[in-house]
Amino acid sequence: KWMRYAEAGSEAVREYDWQAHRAIYHRLIKEITLPEIAPSAHDRLLVCDIDNTLLGDRAALREFLSWQQDHRQNVVLGIATGRSFHSAQAILAAENVPTPDVIISSVGSCVHWYDRDRRRFVEDAAWSNSLLRNWDPDALANLAVALGLEPQGFLEQKPGKASFFVGTADVNTLAEDLRRNGFVGETVISHGRYVDLLARGSGKGAAVEYVAQILGLEPNQVVVAGDSGNDIAMLRACQHPIIVGNASDGIRDHPALAHAYTARATHAAGILEGVQHFRKAGLW
Ligand code: GLC
Ligand code: MG
Repeated sequence: KWMRYAEAGSEAVREYDWQAHRAIYHRLIKEITLPEIAPSAHDRLLVCDIDNTLLGDRAALREFLSWQQDHRQNVVLGIATGRSFHSAQAILAAENVPTPDVIISSVGSCVHWYDRDRRRFVEDAAWSNSLLRNWDPDALANLAVALGLEPQGFLEQKPGKASFFVGTADVNTLAEDLRRNGFVGETVISHGRYVDLLARGSGKGAAVEYVAQILGLEPNQVVVAGDSGNDIAMLRACQHPIIVGNASDGIRDHPALAHAYTARATHAAGILEGVQHFRKAGLW
């Protein structure tokens, strides 16, 4: 354990030293100074979760990104994450992932489009506003705490997303208990630890469908990839879902995900394996 912790420490230091900072600055400066190539003839959308899907294996990520760079004219790259928008941007930048075309953050509560001409993200206000009807965070927090849930930090709370730790709540009956007490939104449980209560009609699945619709793409032009509980909604809603090899929360055996492609490879290599599967089968 000592050896593992000591090694992890020296690895963490490398992430924060001047070499690493220099690499990030160089990449960001390049992004600002080189002409941007936006998907021009896009006919496909690929949406990936971040933690334990796109990220988690750097060698696999490099391989995935080289495929993505070769296909960026046609394939719109989207991210769908439980993280907040800023946390998602920070981790993607730190891992040298080129700026995606769209970021779905806070488990589907926010959508940001990247404007390549102005080089900045723009929040999709129509999406966020559509979620706020009947959203009463105080009443929801009272109910959640009464059921044994413990609030996550302030930064994790967003309009349309109230997030908790499981605490002493019974995860098997939680969704039903909430419903019985008047909650009409979506209950998302991940890693046996996180509970997100989302506005009705929200979640990664609904957000991906919205993004595809804005892009004018049909359901069969969309592929999504994920690994855990908060990906179930988008994996279920999509015709061509990829479950990466390192998936958790029992999603491999989830009855509503029998149509998913379960990759043998893990993390970003699993995404690539799934993408190639759907390409070869002529489905995407
Ligand atoms: C991310 C978010 C957290 C959420 C979890 C599961 O860790 O930061 O708020 O509960 O994903 O969706
Ligand atoms: Mg994940």
